Amino acid sequence: MTLEDRVAVVTGGGSGIGEAICLRLAAEGARVAVLDVDLDAAAVTAKLAGGAPIEADVSDSASVERARESVEAELGPVDIWVNNAGIQASAQAARIADRAERNEPLDALVRLPDEEWRLMLAVHLDGTFFGTRAAARSMAPRGTGSIVNVASVCGIEGCTGYPHYSAAKAGILGFTRAVAKELAAQGVRVNAVAPGFIDTEASQAMDNPLRQAQRLRTPLRRFGRPEEIAATVAFLAGDDAGFFVGETLSPNGGIVTT
Ligand code: NAI
Repeated sequence: MTLEDRVAVVTGGGSGIGEAICLRLAAEGARVAVLDVDLDAAAVTAKLAGGAPIEADVSDSASVERARESVEAELGPVDIWVNNAGIQASAQAARIADRAERNEPLDALVRLPDEEWRLMLAVHLDGTFFGTRAAARSMAPRGTGSIVNVASVCGIEGCTGYPHYSAAKAGILGFTRAVAKELAAQGVRVNAVAPGFIDTEASQAMDNPLRQAQRLRTPLRRFGRPEEIAATVAFLAGDDAGFFVGETLSPNGGIVTT
């Protein structure tokens, strides 16, 4: 139990990787606040993790601040904050699937609508900024804390057909490096996890030829499991990772090696 009695916040904890992170942190002894825009989903995870469900929209800074206040009132000051909430690029996947199948130019960029670009940046990049800022406001005055941001291999080398997702995730990595250098002096470590392609219910729903190609391109020839990402997050959140600052760990089955 490496995280005994720590208070941990996980955004997007209601399903997939976030749910696995909540369960792993709870298994390590943390008291977990499950933040999600879907309160019912958060409640299911919170029940499994013995934690507290809290409704929050990470793309709305006021909502994130309110959630932080609720966590502090309910569980106490925050020790660990995981910015995991995200959305799938489902519309884009559907738009380009047939082109990929016919081996034609995807025209993914030129057909990407403004709203989808903005929403992707709002949930992932704004959400990570709002979450990290809220966490730092709680942690820095106490001189301790660990923040983990969930990015993606798409943020390291770019994913064909998904410029908005890739830009948002690359932004998270740049943001992580910058704030990590600043907050380290105040005892707060910030790091990132950049998963490869992971088997979750949501990602299965957007199965398409590109995704199958990603599996086959992965040297381990399989998708990752949410629990494998949760283990990496738990490591970065805990004291064993005490000398990791601004680092990106990428459990990805070998699809990207840096
Ligand atoms: P998921 O769709 O299963 O879960 C995402 C959760 O975030 C859901 O519970 C959803 O309600 C919540 N959420 C969505 N918008 C929100 C908002 N505005 N405010 C608060 N909560 C919100 O997704 P999954 O696959 O578990 O992904 C989790 C993270 O991992 C995301 O950041 C994703 O980009 C990243 N990732 C996923 C990969 C995969 O293959 N599944 C690969 C690499 C990264």
